[in-house]
Amino acid sequence: MSDNNDFKMVAKTFFGLEEVLSNELLSLGAKKIEKGVRNVSFFGDLGFLYKCNLSLRTAIRILKPIAFFNVENEKELYTSFYNFNWEDYLSLDDTFSIESVLNSDFFSHSLFVSQKAKDGMVDRFRKLFKRRPNVDSINPDIKINIHIRDNKCTVSLDSSGKPLNQRGYRSQTNIAPINEVLAAGIILLSDWDLESNFLDPMCGSGTFLIEAAMLATNYPPNIKRSNFSFKNWNDFDLDLFVMITKSVQSKIRPFNNKISGFDKSPSAISKCNQNIINAGLDDIISISKEDFFRSKKNNDNFLHLVFNPPYGERLRIDIESFYKKIGDKLKTDYSNSNAWFITSSIEALKYVGLRPSRKIKLFNGKLESRLARYEIYSGSKKAKKNIY
Ligand SMILES: C[S@@+](CC[C@H](N)C(=O)[O-])C[C@H]1O[C@@H](n2cnc3c(N)ncnc32)[C@H](O)[C@@H]1O
Repeated sequence: MSDNNDFKMVAKTFFGLEEVLSNELLSLGAKKIEKGVRNVSFFGDLGFLYKCNLSLRTAIRILKPIAFFNVENEKELYTSFYNFNWEDYLSLDDTFSIESVLNSDFFSHSLFVSQKAKDGMVDRFRKLFKRRPNVDSINPDIKINIHIRDNKCTVSLDSSGKPLNQRGYRSQTNIAPINEVLAAGIILLSDWDLESNFLDPMCGSGTFLIEAAMLATNYPPNIKRSNFSFKNWNDFDLDLFVMITKSVQSKIRPFNNKISGFDKSPSAISKCNQNIINAGLDDIISISKEDFFRSKKNNDNFLHLVFNPPYGERLRIDIESFYKKIGDKLKTDYSNSNAWFITSSIEALKYVGLRPSRKIKLFNGKLESRLARYEIYSGSKKAKKNIY
């Protein structure tokens, strides 16, 4: 990778996943990595941008900044967009959309900012070519991202387009599926050694199972996705993209242990099964219709559990008795395990009856949540009991 062709990129993520995203970037070979809040910036070349889109598990999108303006009002924003050489980035026949994120006293309405920026841009095209490219807010060829902090406006091209959690394997959703990027981030935060057996005892549509299997086999999560915005860019290099795709594919490795899931709902199991088949991971993952509260760990080997139990928001349950049963089940029938779960009911943790050895603040969508770890020992140590 030649330094001369390097440029800055910004990977967006969820709150709490910045560290794991930085680690992912480091192991892919990113340069000058800097953590922000809900984002990580780094440098690399065009091939690296393709690699990031194919391989990063905890990025929602990868932005490429292309312009910086100082703006304090709409007129300045309009003029900056009017004066920028947009014709180098999109043609008259491309469709586009503009999304704005604001953190500024000068501007308060993101839709209005997008509108003004668009006006400047299309007026430039009209002046130069007597025609203008059209807006498509659903499926644009070129996605433009505006970020204004105080009076500093950064304009970026969104290289991903649709968010990167849309891996292409989820054709079936359960009532409350967890976002794929969040699921991958939780597994990475859980320090799974990628070797011990893995269980999601309330697997729903199978997101943790599929993300765990992709991680264990070093399977690039977005290798099956055909739509990335960078494919519509003027500088798209098909040969380079094919080369990078082959290179990341060649690093897939076998996994010899078990990744398994239970769900007590037959419809969840059938959806989960379809998603696992879509992901092509049915030879690694096994699932069964089972009630976790009636289950038992079936050998003495160490087991790593990751799950998101219902938390009462969309799936109605009695929080107190449900979370108490989780704690009791882990204690009595799951010795020699680490159990990690995320819940948006922070109150629920006090009913588990075991002391979590770690608690990490995350957001599940807009809901503030906790990812908790319970270490269940074998033999006399059994479990850290009854202290919240
Ligand atoms: C929040 S959802 C899990 C979503 C899942 N992570 C996904 O991505 O689709 C909780 C799941 O727990 C299941 N569940 C509830 N009680 C259970 C039990 N006692 N045993 C097994 N599964 C249970 C529900 O059927 C539901 O599918």
